[in-house]
Amino acid sequence: MNEILTPHAVKALLLWYQQNKRDLPWRHTSDPYRIWISEIMLQQTRVEAVKPYYARFLETCPDVRALAALPEEKLMKLWEGLGYYSRARNLQKAARVVVEQFGGVMPRTYEELIKLPGIGEYTAGAIASIAYGVRVPAIDGNVLRVLARVSASDADITLPETKKEYREALLPVVPTEAGDFTQSLIELGATVCAPNREPMCEVCPLRENCEAYREGKTNEIPVRSPKKPRRIEEKTVFLIRDGDRTALCKRPAKGLLSGLYELPNVNGHLNEEEVLAHLRTLGFEPLRIQKIENAKHIFTHIEWHMIAYDVRITPEFDGLHGQSGMLLVPNGELHKSYAIPSAFGAYVKYL
Ligand code: ADE
Repeated sequence: MNEILTPHAVKALLLWYQQNKRDLPWRHTSDPYRIWISEIMLQQTRVEAVKPYYARFLETCPDVRALAALPEEKLMKLWEGLGYYSRARNLQKAARVVVEQFGGVMPRTYEELIKLPGIGEYTAGAIASIAYGVRVPAIDGNVLRVLARVSASDADITLPETKKEYREALLPVVPTEAGDFTQSLIELGATVCAPNREPMCEVCPLRENCEAYREGKTNEIPVRSPKKPRRIEEKTVFLIRDGDRTALCKRPAKGLLSGLYELPNVNGHLNEEEVLAHLRTLGFEPLRIQKIENAKHIFTHIEWHMIAYDVRITPEFDGLHGQSGMLLVPNGELHKSYAIPSAFGAYVKYL
């Protein structure tokens, strides 16, 4: 690959960033811990959605030792609604390594950072460049789009080897202002060379360097191979409650949404008769069963298509002793202490 960005283009990009960057909370700090938290949250989540979580997370866990010591249930509650919960678990695993092996100080090099749980090439590059000024690139989806367009490359950006090529091309180009350079590429990809809409080439600092612009190909580039269709799973969800308390289950320790709490549910779509039979096997004798709204939740590779029943039980019901994993939780506590994924949002709002 030829020089992907000339020194002149790098200067133009840095100047544009100085003049146009959004005022974001993680841009007011050089604390590597805070930058790490922001980059992990931002990996799969929009900036506006991240902001309140970022503030709340840092209030509860202002440093790496606080994160290492946080009880799991509190960690999950802090992350509730943000999705991709393994991010939070890996953050804590890495925090424990930093405390035990690095005396509570985030390592400074790309090579040490990338060894930590949950930190890949992108995040190691982002932390090293933004917090420590190390001249390494950080290439996320935004940056890939910018680089693919600048070079008018028709390489499939979903392939690891494409990312590797860009990484090698970008490495010699990273200036001494490494952190601003990283963020300028991310910012350009998020705001000007944006996804899912026309890029705003008329205000782009790289327009003169952009081969896709010159060739009128910004709509065709980047090239990405089509995604596999998501697997559809049908579920029947139960809102089992007695007025003050609601039944919750803890999900298994491994797999999708592991360790979080959920409304009791089964695979498949059950009719009212089947619901009654199922509830009886759990030891419930419902007072009333009423079908409520359907809901859909989309994960990366799976879609849940949910039907649901509101099930009333008597307040005296105490038949859950020995019923593994199921709890009857007072509604106030449910909102305060139990992390329930947004997949159940359509039903938790009833409580
Ligand atoms: N997305 C990933 N990292 C980001 C950052 N530092 N600022 C804004 N958006 C981002």
